Amino acid sequence: MAEQSGYAKQVLVAGATGKTGSWVVRRLLHYGVPVRVFVRSEEKARSLFGDAVEVVLGKIQDADAISRAVSGCDAVISALGSSAVSGEASPHEVDRDGAIRLMDEAAKAGVRHFAMVSSIGVTKWYHPLNLFAGVLNMKFAAEEHLRQQFSTEGRSYTIIRPGGLKDEEPLQYRLRVEQGDHLWNGWTNRSDVAELLVLSLWVEKAANKTFEVINDAPEPQQSLAGYYDKLSS
Ligand SMILES: NC(=O)c1ccc[n+]([C@@H]2O[C@H](COP(=O)([O-])OP(=O)(O)OC[C@H]3O[C@@H](n4cnc5c(N)ncnc54)[C@H](OP(=O)(O)O)[C@@H]3O)[C@@H](O)[C@H]2O)c1
Repeated sequence: MAEQSGYAKQVLVAGATGKTGSWVVRRLLHYGVPVRVFVRSEEKARSLFGDAVEVVLGKIQDADAISRAVSGCDAVISALGSSAVSGEASPHEVDRDGAIRLMDEAAKAGVRHFAMVSSIGVTKWYHPLNLFAGVLNMKFAAEEHLRQQFSTEGRSYTIIRPGGLKDEEPLQYRLRVEQGDHLWNGWTNRSDVAELLVLSLWVEKAANKTFEVINDAPEPQQSLAGYYDKLSS
């Protein structure tokens, strides 16, 4: 784990109590980055992170709570995700409208960089995953908003589209990164997605990039920063 950041500004993690979000928090803390989490349950946040993070309570439906959460942050990392076809954890509430609300409040508050998790297949309206309340379509709408909102006025974005997510330790696999949404399958670890999201805070080549990622082959990695060198637009 040779990567050194030198980055010490406040970062907000949305979806921090989720499986990918909790890896994002762990990787930020590994690099000594001050972390604020935006969560629905303080108890869940404290059980995962103790007193190592600042907690702002709220739902992604609540613009005032989001505004408090993003205030003073240099960057936002979103690992939000829907888990029900309807209600407050549905794709249109979380993956589209909630994510867009978070982007808008972040831009208003002067946040410089916004990184988010999306998914492979997100541009394919005919993908079977859209049977789950249009989840990929909702994520693509949020992606489009982020590209538009955070590519101007000194802001930047990074959008990571992973394959199926697994729960192993970070830096255990050589990765395959692609652009253009041509992949149909493949797996990758939430921990590596989290690492790539965190690296986007200080790796210049991560700015304004959208890319897919899946595992290639088992091979311990010193750093994932070099994968950003492989990306074009
Ligand atoms: N599963 C896969 O194979 C796969 C593949 C590609 C992409 N993805 C995407 O990758 C992302 C991360 O996946 P994951 O499995 O790590 O997600 P996850 O564990 O389900 O976490 C989702 C997070 O979103 C939060 N959330 C949901 N509704 C909310 C609301 N109304 N207000 C505030 N927070 C809310 C949850 O909060 P609580 O902890 O309070 O519930 C949780 O922290 C998701 O966007 C997912 O769609 C997943």
